[in-house]
Amino acid sequence: MSEQNWLELGDKYVMNTYKRFPVTIESADGCYVTDTNGKKYLDFVSGIAVNTLGYNNKDFISNLTDQIGKLIHISNLYWNKPQIELAKCLVENSIFDKVFFCNSGAEAIEGILKLCRKYGKKFKGDDCFEIITIKQSFHGRTYGAITATGQDKYQEGLIPLLPGIKYAEFNDIESLKAQMSDNTCGIILEPIQGEGGIRPVSKEYLQEVRKICDENNIVLAYDEVQCGMGRTGYLFAYEYYDVAPDVIALAKGLGGGCPIGAILAIENVARAFQPGDHASTFGGNALACSAGLTVLDFLLNKNILKSTWEIGEYLSECLQNLKKEKKCIKDIRGVGLMQGIEIDKPAADVILECLNNGLLLVGAGSNVIRFVPPLIISKEEVDKAIAILKETL
Ligand SMILES: Cc1ncc(COP(=O)(O)O)c(C=O)c1O
Repeated sequence: MSEQNWLELGDKYVMNTYKRFPVTIESADGCYVTDTNGKKYLDFVSGIAVNTLGYNNKDFISNLTDQIGKLIHISNLYWNKPQIELAKCLVENSIFDKVFFCNSGAEAIEGILKLCRKYGKKFKGDDCFEIITIKQSFHGRTYGAITATGQDKYQEGLIPLLPGIKYAEFNDIESLKAQMSDNTCGIILEPIQGEGGIRPVSKEYLQEVRKICDENNIVLAYDEVQCGMGRTGYLFAYEYYDVAPDVIALAKGLGGGCPIGAILAIENVARAFQPGDHASTFGGNALACSAGLTVLDFLLNKNILKSTWEIGEYLSECLQNLKKEKKCIKDIRGVGLMQGIEIDKPAADVILECLNNGLLLVGAGSNVIRFVPPLIISKEEVDKAIAILKETL
């Protein structure tokens, strides 16, 4: 069947919620994907910060194949080995004590919203249900997550939203204080805003937020759905900042392409959930957890974190050099392999041209082009991407 036919079938049968590029990806290997016409693209999107190990990783395939042969799914009425092993690995390599597994970033945020409120009500008082999030943030598309998302454009046509969510300005401690009250139970923020335009908060800001949360018995939650799982060159973004949260949300890169999300929490907060308070049929699915274990094995034992940091620095350097040549580039931001360039024209036009020239990129807001390649990307592949971008600009 021709590429055009696939596009027509997609339009006919799939609900119209995405503005998609007119290509159908059929296969992939390493950091390259191939469409149904046989055209190859260098992938600096990686499923939007999902395909941590790139494509067709031999160990990933072999571990998942083994797991399929043993057990794909069993209800959470029973234990399964990969779930326990993945929870153990996440706890032993973090500051957290307990893990709740779900299937996506939005679900992890939903769970955190509930956890903050349970904590507030149990340990501070019945009216303690207010949660503060940050403007320009993105936390997902379910009702709670979209309410937590500090961008009107995602909330259009969905009013009334979840009550009790307030928004503070990005990286602005006075604005945060102005939104606080005796009824604040939680603060949720992205250490590096992703969809909002690749904006890292400052370390000083995070230190202040931590202090405020300690003084007022407020749960501090980081949304590390996009910036966690090695993207900063550290396993978790809170390690890059060296400012500890009480809870984090993970998803995207955790499963390396298999759908999985997780909430990691310190014991004092995790105990706010009791049996019956929260659940998910697929959460902690044996196949998804064995994918998570494989990704963690690569990050922890196969030098990926070090190379993510090094290649991230190299990418940032190349982008800085490009900025000197191209006046349309206004700013370069990011950490590790989560970088963005702000340009003085619609990012979508440049991204479409890059696609035609064999490079996949993704926007982050209207004027920012985002670079979130697989963490196995090489310097040569960075050179190639920069050459295509330069030519296109
Ligand atoms: C920071 C952040 N949080 C949450 C989400 C929602 O994740 P999901 O699409 O898996 O629900 C995203 C998705 O882009 C994200 O970037």
